[in-house]
Amino acid sequence: MIVMPECDSTNAVALRLPDAELTTHGWAVVAAEKQTAGRGRLGRTWASPPGAGVTFSVALGVPTHLPAAQLGLLPLLAGMAVAGVCRADGVTAWVKWPNDVVVPDPDDPADLAKLAGVLAERGATSAVVGVGLNVSLTAAEAPVPNATSLVRQGATSLDRDHLVAACAAAILGLWTRVVAGSAAAVMSEFRDICITIGADVEIHQPGGHRLRGQATAVDDHGHLEITSEEGRSTIVTAGDVIHVRPPEPPELPL
Ligand code: BTN
Repeated sequence: MIVMPECDSTNAVALRLPDAELTTHGWAVVAAEKQTAGRGRLGRTWASPPGAGVTFSVALGVPTHLPAAQLGLLPLLAGMAVAGVCRADGVTAWVKWPNDVVVPDPDDPADLAKLAGVLAERGATSAVVGVGLNVSLTAAEAPVPNATSLVRQGATSLDRDHLVAACAAAILGLWTRVVAGSAAAVMSEFRDICITIGADVEIHQPGGHRLRGQATAVDDHGHLEITSEEGRSTIVTAGDVIHVRPPEPPELPL
């Protein structure tokens, strides 16, 4: 595990690691107190005041025999691992497909506050998955209005050393099971912690296309099935999911 006071992005550092760093265990973890160019999904940035969260990346050597589809599960596993660690810390966190770690507002379950984000990237011989988990971030420090943190959700521990170690160990544990051939069992557990299944959603796809319907399933490849009001189903492999409120039933004449 490499801990740095400052770097551009722990994902970038992890992607630059020489292969030799991964040969002993097959993995390495890079954590930083401060990132100057934190990266987010879909070309966005990730900002967090130094010390207010944990920002780390896990670099994994990718076995040559591994089916490409299993590599696509890595970001989902990371979200699931982090949500599990938050639950063990007393916060009922969920995964919003594909990998945001969120907490629903008890009065409006379509209103989700984000605890952690995940970004997976591919190197020549490795895969890197980075996690930004808000720990002691206050409402005033929140970079976006829907951000929340473990402290704001009443977590029992804010020990960042423990959190980074527990999250990295959970990611490695799930990944080891996938590589060993248990992807279907892991994805079954994913479905239990994925709050998107059953929700009314709008999907913003990378090309700008929007799709609306109910999220009806996540398959063993980690793809999301959306079923339109007319009953047409579409498989989505990437995009931003917005949970929306179900449409009001039409008013019936008295
Ligand atoms: C997102 O929700 O958009 C993903 C955010 C991922 C942020 C983490 S912080 C550690 C790692 N290094 C980065 O540059 N990004 C990820």
